[in-house]
Amino acid sequence: MNGVLPQDYKDQVVWIIGASSGIGEALAKDIARRGGKLALSARRAEVLQALTEDLEGGDHFIAPLDVADPEAVADGFSAITGHFGRLDRVVFMAAVYSPHDGQPKDLAFIHDMLAVNLGGAFNMLDVVRPYFEAQGSGQIALCGSVAGYRGLPFGQPYCAGKAALISLAESLRIELKPTGVDVKVINPGFVKTPLTDKNDFPMPMMIEAEVAGRAIAKGLLRRGFEVHFPKRFTFLMKTLRILPAPVYFWLMNQIAHKL
Ligand SMILES: NC(=O)c1ccc[n+]([C@@H]2O[C@H](COP(=O)([O-])OP(=O)(O)OC[C@H]3O[C@@H](n4cnc5c(N)ncnc54)[C@H](OP(=O)(O)O)[C@@H]3O)[C@@H](O)[C@H]2O)c1
Repeated sequence: MNGVLPQDYKDQVVWIIGASSGIGEALAKDIARRGGKLALSARRAEVLQALTEDLEGGDHFIAPLDVADPEAVADGFSAITGHFGRLDRVVFMAAVYSPHDGQPKDLAFIHDMLAVNLGGAFNMLDVVRPYFEAQGSGQIALCGSVAGYRGLPFGQPYCAGKAALISLAESLRIELKPTGVDVKVINPGFVKTPLTDKNDFPMPMMIEAEVAGRAIAKGLLRRGFEVHFPKRFTFLMKTLRILPAPVYFWLMNQIAHKL
């Protein structure tokens, strides 16, 4: 089955890293409803356990881990492939976040955030990439954000990490094309989750996690590279991406410093 993944989730084994809340949890529920078998990872084992009991279908598995720890990720991967005897798709959703306040962040905080949000993706790839390459099929989906489209004021280091994830997904998609491994990037706009509950600024066109989960579950079955939603908001953000630098900086200076 070199390079050909089925166009549905029936009996597909899907590893979601960052499944204990928000979009990852909603995605797990949606894929389980579509017949997939879930391997669920995050740090909170008891929350993952409760989630498996809530999921449709029988054979789900939890591999609690801290994604910033490469050994824990490798152990989790071995436990999952040992349990199911196969792996079809991996969705990297894990992230930590703190609200943008415009203040320089503590260095330890920055390094810890990047170790999870970006380093975690590399830790996953270290074990998943050779497995999928040897298998000649598989799908790797990295969750970026529209916050990674362009350098936004007051958003770093979160935005910098998301921009790097988008870049990483683009590199991987090209590199892995001859191997039959599909690579996608997921770029959500605002979604109501514990992550965005921390924000006290307006979040236009925000959608519920269930809507995001459904958009991702469907998007991963399509051929394209990017899964993005809600479309009205993401297309608006994409126009920022194509603005020439002087226009972009003029506009953002108006928004950041003059409003
Ligand atoms: N919500 C939005 O508006 C929005 C917009 C664009 C992109 N996103 C992206 O969507 C993804 C999901 O975010 P969300 O909004 O659903 O947030 P969330 O509810 O806070 O979920 C974050 C997930 O990451 C896990 N996680 C955090 N640190 C981890 C670690 N060290 N090791 C393993 N797992 C870890 C958390 O589980 P534990 O705490 O149990 O470890 C949780 O399951 C993130 O990549 C986020 O950047 C969200």
